[in-house]
Amino acid sequence: MSHEEFPTDNPAVVTVGLPYANGDLHVGHLRGYVTGDTVARALRRVGQQTAFVCGSDMHGTPIAVNAAEEGVSPEDFAMEYHELYAETFPEFNVEFDNYGHTHDEENVKTTREFVRSWIDADYIFEKEIQVAYDPDADQWLPDRLVEGTCPYCGEHARGDECDEGCQRHLEPGEVEDPVSTLTGNPAEYRERDHKFLRLSDFQDYLQEFIDRVEGTDNAKNQPREWIEGELQDLCITRDMDWGIDYPGDEAEELVLYVWVDAPIEYVSSTKQYTERVGADEYDWEAVWTVEDESELTGEDNGEIVHVIGRDIIQHHAVFWPAMLRGAGYNEPRAILATGFVGIDGKALSTSRNRAVWADEYLDEGFHPDLFRYYMIDGSGMETDVDFSWDRFAERVNGELVGNLGNFVYRSLLFAHRNYDGTPDADVSDDVREHIESAIAGFEDALNEYRIRDIGAAAIDVADFGNEYIQHSEPWKLTDDDPERAAQVIRDCVQLTKACAVLMQPVMPGKAAELWAQLDEDGSVDEVALDDALATPPAEFGEPDELFSKIEDDRTDELNEKLQARVEAATEGDGDREASDFDPEGLTDERVSFEDFDDLDMRVGRIEVAEPIEGADDLARLEVDIGVETRQVVAGIKQLHDLDELPGERCILLANMEQAELFGVESNGMVLAAGDEADLLTTHSDAPLGSKVQ
Ligand code: MSP
Ligand code: ZN
Repeated sequence: MSHEEFPTDNPAVVTVGLPYANGDLHVGHLRGYVTGDTVARALRRVGQQTAFVCGSDMHGTPIAVNAAEEGVSPEDFAMEYHELYAETFPEFNVEFDNYGHTHDEENVKTTREFVRSWIDADYIFEKEIQVAYDPDADQWLPDRLVEGTCPYCGEHARGDECDEGCQRHLEPGEVEDPVSTLTGNPAEYRERDHKFLRLSDFQDYLQEFIDRVEGTDNAKNQPREWIEGELQDLCITRDMDWGIDYPGDEAEELVLYVWVDAPIEYVSSTKQYTERVGADEYDWEAVWTVEDESELTGEDNGEIVHVIGRDIIQHHAVFWPAMLRGAGYNEPRAILATGFVGIDGKALSTSRNRAVWADEYLDEGFHPDLFRYYMIDGSGMETDVDFSWDRFAERVNGELVGNLGNFVYRSLLFAHRNYDGTPDADVSDDVREHIESAIAGFEDALNEYRIRDIGAAAIDVADFGNEYIQHSEPWKLTDDDPERAAQVIRDCVQLTKACAVLMQPVMPGKAAELWAQLDEDGSVDEVALDDALATPPAEFGEPDELFSKIEDDRTDELNEKLQARVEAATEGDGDREASDFDPEGLTDERVSFEDFDDLDMRVGRIEVAEPIEGADDLARLEVDIGVETRQVVAGIKQLHDLDELPGERCILLANMEQAELFGVESNGMVLAAGDEADLLTTHSDAPLGSKVQ
């Protein structure tokens, strides 16, 4: 390891990937926030000065498109989600020291400063490139506005990201067979000047960086392939209105790419924290800035720890370090990338309601710490997991109720009933040594970023305690050997206190409850790890059970509910918004009868429905419209079971202009309602080919 162990004398900052202010939070997002919060608390626990910061990611095409669909400004749209997130995180005991957003003044200012530094250091150049353009909508198609095929792996790719295939970032112009997501029509590539960050200048630096960065193996190893190959320069501007304006004056129509100002919010959010508490208490500059490059490997720079999901490793381990270096900033000490959360082996989906939602979990009445424990200790950090109520109940009932909860309850109850609190005796050597080794184990786990083992430390102590109490049987000793009984309970109360101190990073709410049951002063958040060995209060009251069992019928109920939703999402009618669906406002503009009559709509019957190879959403249909049979391409592959479609009657716009999608000619358009493409049909027997009028 090239870095000093935690705690160091420098301040640390822990960040988590900024959530796009674009929809409700689900358990997948929460995995990262809970992990980041645990890491920040664990660092403080070992005595490391730590700020925990984040913010909402307000820019980017999906937000601009969704806002336009709702008829509100992107700023208002994103602010609403920003406020929702700021309220939701504390409900999961995720307590940021500062939670900003990328559109706030601080971030606009910091972002412009970064870009100016790159310009001054000659890392920026202009180049004419091919940018996707929708001739029908008459507009450029940055990022998510274009879909097509990934040039690296051949999978379906969305704009700037190969999200279903190799996970690579894609530069403008790279998507093959581009299709506009605005109109569904093929897009054209047109020439356009854009600004670039010369990433290739950082090749040597990045190779050294990746050798010394700490964190999870996925984050340290995956980027090697990208760094060791030829580094493609990064296009940092987009043809859009929504975003932070490019600071140079010669390119006034361009905004910065969302991935420029997003990570810079890590810096801005830390600055805001310093502005609030004062630099004496926490100095953002001591973390983020360095005097010169030689200081990067020195011992006096701050400790930057990024927690992210595995989908954004390239942004954090390649682009971001180059962006920081180009502006003379410090580099990340560690990058921790969690695996993804899915359900039933499939990805979570916000639009299709294939998820367990943050508010839903809380509405079920479960304590946030149970979720935290399940996320942190249910699997290794890098493993992809399926969220399952069975697994959740298993962890809660097994380790929390059966082991930890059981041990601390029986210890405190026995202590309270027989001694009014902690018996007057010294802790036995054996127990002291066990707690010392649990403390050392906690410190090692943190330094090696084995986050799961941080959570396991308290469970191991409880395990030891349960065996000890079971084996010593103090209830049999109170009469025969009262001294020995007092000794055993004295030890068990100490082990209970150690559990509270060790469990706090993962289960801060439950740790505080246990702390209160011990009648300890102050907050368990503030104490040092060694306090696990300090003597507990001589008196405390009767304890309550810390955790309660999740009964099987409750789990069955939760399973059924989730299963029904997953099936609905697969069938295509699982829209979360269905019950509180908010239809679009009506268009004011009227059309003449002649205009309407220009639309040649016919009753048809689907004869053939097959998926189009390589296209994520598209199906090829053959529709009999009486007069003839038409081939059309429809974006319904995900939304309908194609095998069920032949025989279904539908309405076809027969004089729709022709198009070619994924090499398949589309000669008409099947009419459908809403995001889930509910197909329009007839209800009596109007013969095929009848005109709709
Ligand atoms: N806005 C970007 C991150 C910018 S960081 C400078 C983004 N936003 S996101 O809303 O899509 O994701 C927010 C965080 O949640 C990211 O760290 C992402 O990796 C993580 N996850 C999103 N979905 C997830 C799962 N299904 N499972 C685990 N983590 C997930 O990416
Ligand atoms: Zn790919």
